[in-house]
Amino acid sequence: MAERDLELRQHASDEVKKHTEKVQGDPYRLDYHLMPPVGLLNDPNGFVQWKGTYHVFYQWMPFDTGHGAKFWGHYTTKDFVHYTHEKPALTPSDWFDKNGVYSGSAIVHNDQLYLFYTGNVKDDDGNRETYQCLAVSEDGLTFEKKGVVAELPEGYTAHFRDPKVWQHEDCFYMVIGAQSKDMQGKAVLFQSQDLLEWSFLGPITGSEENNLGEFGYMWECPDVFELDGTDVLIVSPQGLEEEGMHYSNTYQSGYFTGELDYENADFKHGDFRELDRGFEFYAPQTTVDEKGRRILIGWMGVPDQYEQAHPTIENQWIHCLTMPRQLSWNGKQIIQQPLEEMKEMRGPVLMHSSITIENDQKAVRGIGGKAVELSIDMETVGDQFALELFQYASLSYKDGILTLSRPHLEDKSKTEFRRVAVTSELQNLHLFIDHSTLEIFINGGEEVMTSRMYPQPEEDHILFTSLGTSTFSIEQWKLNGFI
Ligand code: FRU
Repeated sequence: MAERDLELRQHASDEVKKHTEKVQGDPYRLDYHLMPPVGLLNDPNGFVQWKGTYHVFYQWMPFDTGHGAKFWGHYTTKDFVHYTHEKPALTPSDWFDKNGVYSGSAIVHNDQLYLFYTGNVKDDDGNRETYQCLAVSEDGLTFEKKGVVAELPEGYTAHFRDPKVWQHEDCFYMVIGAQSKDMQGKAVLFQSQDLLEWSFLGPITGSEENNLGEFGYMWECPDVFELDGTDVLIVSPQGLEEEGMHYSNTYQSGYFTGELDYENADFKHGDFRELDRGFEFYAPQTTVDEKGRRILIGWMGVPDQYEQAHPTIENQWIHCLTMPRQLSWNGKQIIQQPLEEMKEMRGPVLMHSSITIENDQKAVRGIGGKAVELSIDMETVGDQFALELFQYASLSYKDGILTLSRPHLEDKSKTEFRRVAVTSELQNLHLFIDHSTLEIFINGGEEVMTSRMYPQPEEDHILFTSLGTSTFSIEQWKLNGFI
């Protein structure tokens, strides 16, 4: 409905104006991560490159720092360094999406950009309905809604959402995150010849043969693609119990690899593996760009994980997206590396030195919670080696395990931590810091830990400590972001 659309756009733009000063004055705003201008951001959506320009849409609630009837916000970039914040792509203005233009994806077809998303609807009694919808654009900036293209099949609850669409041979496929009526998380497949008419093929996981058993009560934001000769299903399951060092966040995102049999809609796969081991990471989405690279962006947040404890809500905004990462497959696991373009943000090297510490500490000053990149190559690793960041977070390595800890966001008298086993010796740590974000690439991207952090803005040093002797070289750059 055009009138409702205009009304919602006006209301959102008033909200941005009303809070701009407050939001911009927040010391925890970021230089090179995508954020909402006001309100809440969650999943990345519609990630695609079209005519040289990358489009990154995002789930946006302009009116609140909580969740609700989402818009699709929209950023564009040609280089992942300079971004333009475009006007919102979609608003929850129609009967089929009135309670939220929920997550979805983009595909280029016939010289147009097609956006697929879930229309979230609640009736007067609060019952949920779900519709898979399409919007099309000629210019990549204004989108015309075409309405509902797929309805809820038998056997599933209305927790059925987040269409990801791709082409395989001469057909289009759509994978959707679902909950079966017996409360099992599923990824289901639809097929189409023209992107307009879709037929339901069924669930691709959960066959007896795969022996997955119970694996969460709902799967969100699935993504299917081929990576260096293997098929990958990324998904964000809800309802996994914490198990040792695994599944420590409220909900997680990870992947299965194997072989997708398109004809029988059956994916034969191995075990699930988490993509990220930090405190905040969820609902990632990938695209393949014109150079053939598989690039992933995630939400640096987790639903229902004490979201309102993030201090930025005092300044009327919350959450951001991760940096883009390039994915590759090494035959055993997915490797994630910061995109090559991130180097374009580097200013002069602030420091390049080799450091040896022996049962003591060494402070590296002048880093602050600012926008910096640190590359640390280990030569010798002591019995215990640790970095303390800005008197706030710490990253320590002992007996093959890396532990990231920070004051508990909700109860500051406690410390919370996340752990990950490093398969080979600790070889290198590649840290990206942006005021209140921390992304740590471990051993060339075998593991990643992504987290928000809220140190006092004036804290400006990193303290290295070692039990026994640790020797490492460190390179540090100031990063110039343009967001
Ligand atoms: C994941 C999610 C999606 C949904 C969207 C709503 O974070 O719950 O399943 O489409 O967020 O904002």
